Amino acid sequence: MTQPLLSVKNLTIDYIGEEKDFRAVDNVSFDVAPGEVFGLAGESGCGKSTIAFAISRLHKPPALIRKESRIMLAGRDVLDLDPKTLAAFRWREVAMVFQSAMNSLNPVLRIEDQFYDVLHTHKGMTKAQARERTAEMLRLVDIAPDRMRNYPHQFSGGMRQRIVIAICMALDPKLVVMDEPTTALDVVVQREILQRINELRKQFGFSVLFITHDLGLMVQFCDRIGIMLQGKLVEQNDAEAIYKTPQHEYTRKLWASFPSLHGGVLL
Ligand SMILES: Nc1ncnc2c1ncn2[C@@H]1O[C@H](COP(=O)(O)OP(=O)(O)OP(=O)(O)O)[C@@H](O)[C@H]1O
Ligand SMILES: [Mg+2]
Repeated sequence: MTQPLLSVKNLTIDYIGEEKDFRAVDNVSFDVAPGEVFGLAGESGCGKSTIAFAISRLHKPPALIRKESRIMLAGRDVLDLDPKTLAAFRWREVAMVFQSAMNSLNPVLRIEDQFYDVLHTHKGMTKAQARERTAEMLRLVDIAPDRMRNYPHQFSGGMRQRIVIAICMALDPKLVVMDEPTTALDVVVQREILQRINELRKQFGFSVLFITHDLGLMVQFCDRIGIMLQGKLVEQNDAEAIYKTPQHEYTRKLWASFPSLHGGVLL
């Protein structure tokens, strides 16, 4: 592999409890290359979101990252960023889209003002510059630029999710962390959005850390996949290999629980 964009090493995260601590992520290591889509799969509660939040530095107490853990992104030690650098890092280096992201739009602000907030704060753009960039980004996610004057409630859920993705892309991040980004949407809209993200990825070259319960989508969309079981990464491989020749018993069980995958429809 070329120099990885993201390198996670010995990541161990505990949730600190009053009685005892709970180890949610246990010594997890993986790399993501520039432009690559890396997927994390595994049953509910195995620690996927905990990892996603730690990489975005959005974890909060009681989550505690143990000191042997290292997260390097584009040559920076993510766990060592001071608060000032962190604010810039969150938008410019890594963007996070999660399941309820579409609800993170501010209901009382027009779409153009929400883009402006981000573009002005992080790139010092004027209103006119921001409007131009907003139009460009909305076009990329198939939303007519003149709709930037509208408020969030004037869009469907799928459109709002695409708008959030467009805002995330507006600063040209190196890594996009997507934790069930389309789970709340219907299947057709999910695939459309992922196809769009894939095209944008090819155009801009960002990497994606992708989390979903939809294993079909996962296999289609990812270059490589890591399988998690109770906080541990038990197997990682190319998407096709991990699907066709799973090594770990749990991976086999996971695929077997999705019979449609074995109908030869996808691969
Ligand atoms: N704030 C918290 N305090 C205590 N324990 C937590 C907290 N957040 C998560 N956990 C525990 O950590 C474990 C991992 O949770 P996490 O949300 O990372 O799982 P996940 O793989 O994303 O699951 P899902 O697929 O359901 O989203 C779970 O057992 C969960 O109960
Ligand atoms: Mg989760």
